[in-house]
Amino acid sequence: MRVLVTGAGGQVGTDTVMVCEAAGDHVAALDHASLDIGRRDQVLSAITSFRPDAVINCAAWTAVDACEADPDRALALNGLAVRNVAEACHRVGAHLVHLSTDYVFDGTLDRPYHEWDETNPMSVYGISKLIGESEALALGPDSAVVRTSWVSGAHGANMVKTVIALIDQHPQLAFVADQFGHPTFAADLAPMLRLVALDRRSGVHHITNQRPTSWFGFVQEVVAVLGRDPAMVVPIATADLQPPRPALRPPNSMLDNAVARMNGLPPMRDFAEPLAELVRRLTA
Ligand SMILES: NC(=O)c1ccc[n+]([C@@H]2O[C@H](COP(=O)([O-])OP(=O)(O)OC[C@H]3O[C@@H](n4cnc5c(N)ncnc54)[C@H](OP(=O)(O)O)[C@@H]3O)[C@@H](O)[C@H]2O)c1
Repeated sequence: MRVLVTGAGGQVGTDTVMVCEAAGDHVAALDHASLDIGRRDQVLSAITSFRPDAVINCAAWTAVDACEADPDRALALNGLAVRNVAEACHRVGAHLVHLSTDYVFDGTLDRPYHEWDETNPMSVYGISKLIGESEALALGPDSAVVRTSWVSGAHGANMVKTVIALIDQHPQLAFVADQFGHPTFAADLAPMLRLVALDRRSGVHHITNQRPTSWFGFVQEVVAVLGRDPAMVVPIATADLQPPRPALRPPNSMLDNAVARMNGLPPMRDFAEPLAELVRRLTA
């Protein structure tokens, strides 16, 4: 398969490029410096010259709190830019796999969200990502939107790296116990993105590692894997965060991988396994 990966220098993009290369794909790995998806001319030129079978769009402005202060930029990079990618895919018949987020939901449901649940983003980032979804899906059956959540990986900033950086500097770590989601690992997500591209699957897919927890619970597990006492992590409420975060987060971010399950795709692993692998890798 000929695959073009945008945002190839990011957390998910880096692992996606590695997985596709390991599978023998012919990969165009375009990081932000090589391709700005906000630039229609650049996008059309890159995609029509490489003529990929699939484009995996890992590029996004992921600074959730910063998006609140600059809605135009968020909408341009996470929304309108996806139109550029979709248009270029249409020109060459490439399948588009576009990454999206649990933040398209308001988090008030009392069960995990499946793919057909109503969206209602509570933040500028969430709104911009929902617009990106509709731009991608405008391609019809030649596009898939993959919503994922709480991503950690070897490349880029994430919660596992934050905990590793903080653990020796503080006797106690406080994390919110009233936001729930599915921690997901880029190394496990990347093969699923490739599979969606290879099969030319359509529509919205929730793809996460298995087993929900709170941020508090997740950090406790990270601390335990690091060989320290999970009791050093204390639970707090989102309302107690000082200073408060500019962007609202959904209290329930849990994504039911319903479409994958109904399609008979194998579920991703319990997050404990990739967590242990990542910690080993980051602390080796
Ligand atoms: N991280 C999570 O917890 C999470 C959760 C749910 C969904 N997602 C989604 O998963 C996808 C990948 O996220 P990630 O965790 O890999 O984020 P990331 O590490 O921030 O990667 C995003 C990449 O996109 C690049 N980028 C930003 N603006 C761009 C532009 N205009 N043109 C081209 N590239 C641009 C960034 O480059 P610079 O850094 O140089 O700007 C960065 O390398 C995103 O769609 C995100 O919304 C992430």
